Amino acid sequence: MSGDKQADFHKRLGAKNVGALWVARRGVDLTKPAATGQPVHWAYEDLRPDILEAGAIVTAEDAFRRVLVLENPAWHGEMRVTNSLYAGIQLVRPGETAPCHRHSQTALRFVLEGSGAYTTVDGERALLSPGDFVVTPYWSWHDHINEGIEDVTWLDVLDTPMVGFFDAVFREFHNDVSQSITKPDGYSPARYGANMAPDTGGNGGRASPVFRYGFEETRAALMRLAEGQDAHPVHGHKLHYINPTDGGAATPTMDAAMRLLPKGFKGNDYRATDGLVYCAIEGAGRTIIEDQVFEFAERDVFVVPGWHRHRIDSPGGALLFSVSDRAAQQKLGLWREEFPA
Ligand SMILES: [Fe+2]
Repeated sequence: MSGDKQADFHKRLGAKNVGALWVARRGVDLTKPAATGQPVHWAYEDLRPDILEAGAIVTAEDAFRRVLVLENPAWHGEMRVTNSLYAGIQLVRPGETAPCHRHSQTALRFVLEGSGAYTTVDGERALLSPGDFVVTPYWSWHDHINEGIEDVTWLDVLDTPMVGFFDAVFREFHNDVSQSITKPDGYSPARYGANMAPDTGGNGGRASPVFRYGFEETRAALMRLAEGQDAHPVHGHKLHYINPTDGGAATPTMDAAMRLLPKGFKGNDYRATDGLVYCAIEGAGRTIIEDQVFEFAERDVFVVPGWHRHRIDSPGGALLFSVSDRAAQQKLGLWREEFPA
């Protein structure tokens, strides 16, 4: 067909809500992921004045969630830190309550600074301390209260873009600002914290019932691990947070891990299909993502988009938290990793 005939044909198809695949696919490389996310690094010390300024101009209750959203410049305005995840830094000041609600997105928190705040999840509360990893499962009531004297900040990561893609977003507000505490402190650790589980007769949870993973326990496990084995050439000493009811990731969509990079660690190149959000809780280091170099310090956040070659070095040693959508990708049989030579 001549160009005019083709154009006319495509126009007539378009009017019928039909497209020509050979046109849509022209010039598109489907041999590998598009990997359109951008590597990005946020220095906590740079953001801290903005976080505190947000604390001065709006209350947690007025803001509902006082969060500075970390946006990947590849998708400016879309509140995406990777193609499938949302991230932000939340501040709850002394005496404040972030009101109770629930939603179909799964959330996780990684505490950065301050102590004295509690999160309550479906009637059970947990004290938050720096380095703690906390899960807020799908559709569970949650509110955050700071009963201490320090500002408390944490990294929020949610599967919001993923749930939005499925058009399965629901949210509900609780009648009360903060929900009633219906379970004693330590309720979940008593049932699941000794590598044991109660006989519920069910098929496991939708997300880990151990919704708080304390930093001290995580740190101690990694230190013991590092005493007994050589560091992995890419990952250092790395442990994943798991759901004790099935051994899988702590949430159905997001997989989180903590790694210990020993002093003088020089990681090898690596890439995988999941876009990773990293946060250093102790120590510092450097990551080289494709050809970009980022120096990271304590509490900094950086993003390695999916299928981006990267490596991590740490001359002085570091503890590095990470989260990605690997859990969802693995359920769908899509996850792939590569150790480039
Ligand atoms: Fe929430």
